[in-house]
Amino acid sequence: GETPLTDKFGRFHSYLRISLTEKCNLRCQYCMPLEGVPLTPASHLLTSEEIIRITQAFAELGVDKIRLTGGEPTMRKDLIPIIEGIGNVSGIQQIGMTSNGVALHGKLDKLIQAGLSKLNLSIDTLHESKYEFLARRPGFKNVWKTIDKAEHLFDMLKLNCVVMRQFNLDEVVDFVELTQDRKLDIRFIEFMPFGGNDYALKKFVPYKEMLGKIIEKFGEVERLQDHPNDTSKAYKIKGSKGQFGFITSMSEHFCGTCNRLRVTADGNLKVCLHGNAEVSLRDAIRSGTNTKDLQNIIGQAVYKKKAKHAGNFIN
Ligand code: GTP
Ligand code: 5AD
Ligand code: SF4
Repeated sequence: GETPLTDKFGRFHSYLRISLTEKCNLRCQYCMPLEGVPLTPASHLLTSEEIIRITQAFAELGVDKIRLTGGEPTMRKDLIPIIEGIGNVSGIQQIGMTSNGVALHGKLDKLIQAGLSKLNLSIDTLHESKYEFLARRPGFKNVWKTIDKAEHLFDMLKLNCVVMRQFNLDEVVDFVELTQDRKLDIRFIEFMPFGGNDYALKKFVPYKEMLGKIIEKFGEVERLQDHPNDTSKAYKIKGSKGQFGFITSMSEHFCGTCNRLRVTADGNLKVCLHGNAEVSLRDAIRSGTNTKDLQNIIGQAVYKKKAKHAGNFIN
């Protein structure tokens, strides 16, 4: 229907991704320069109260799913009260988090008690030395401790694996192997160019090439039904406990079914991952804007959302 969260192309946005911090305890080459990202002064970041206030404004308009992201969301000292606060907002059905898992193992139980319902963890290789090369920091053993525990705490733990030529393309089949006995959903992500990482194209692997290698090794694969707004195309090996999928942002974008909005750690609303037109919800709140007007600002931004992203498509 016609709500402020429906754009010109009829896409209704019920899924809000909130970045809690730009800080990270890793320096993954595909994401950050070695020296890290310039730190936003703490006073520019949304406070937990502001995050909850913004969530309320979106929930009244129909958002029912929140995902906490970063940077690395566990770097936020007030992560637990943020999750509790979001969970108390009427209309919010699901709270997910995307994390690198390095500093998460000991926090899992408390996060679930607070209301965390979905978890996606990033893991790009099965080898410690390659992990430390890519992430430029240690953490491999911690991540696997987190995965081994979280696998039993969430109904289908998702693992995100960015696939890069001459780095981990040969490991795709090993990751799929893991899904035979473990209830994991491993999503292979096409490498995206961000902020001018110039090696993107030679490292880029289209999903059809990954799928080809999997079929070569396992023979038949079963295509599963995707949910309407999924970013991934889901598959499984017959008889396996888990599944795998491909996030094909580059070779076959999924903008037509996009239901996501984003709020950056410093409070800007982004209607597209690849878009840079941002509007500051933080400034609006701090200058005393009431909820109705805040919702109008949100509605105007959503109305301007483009049909598809302007990232560098392969086709
Ligand atoms: P689910 O809610 O579990 O489906 O999570 P998700 O896949 O939306 O989020 P996650 O944080 O795990 O991100 C996995 C990959 O999907 C990352 O590489 C993201 O950059 C990519 N991704 C997430 N949202 C979008 C989006 O709106 N557009 C595009 N092009 N890619 C996205
Ligand atoms: N291309 C594709 N995926 C990326 N991610 C981070 N940078 C890139 C990139 N350049 C992934 C992370 C994490 C998810 C939120 O986004 O690995 O799993
Ligand atoms: Fe949505 Fe933009 Fe992502 Fe496309 S790139 S799916 S429009 S956020």
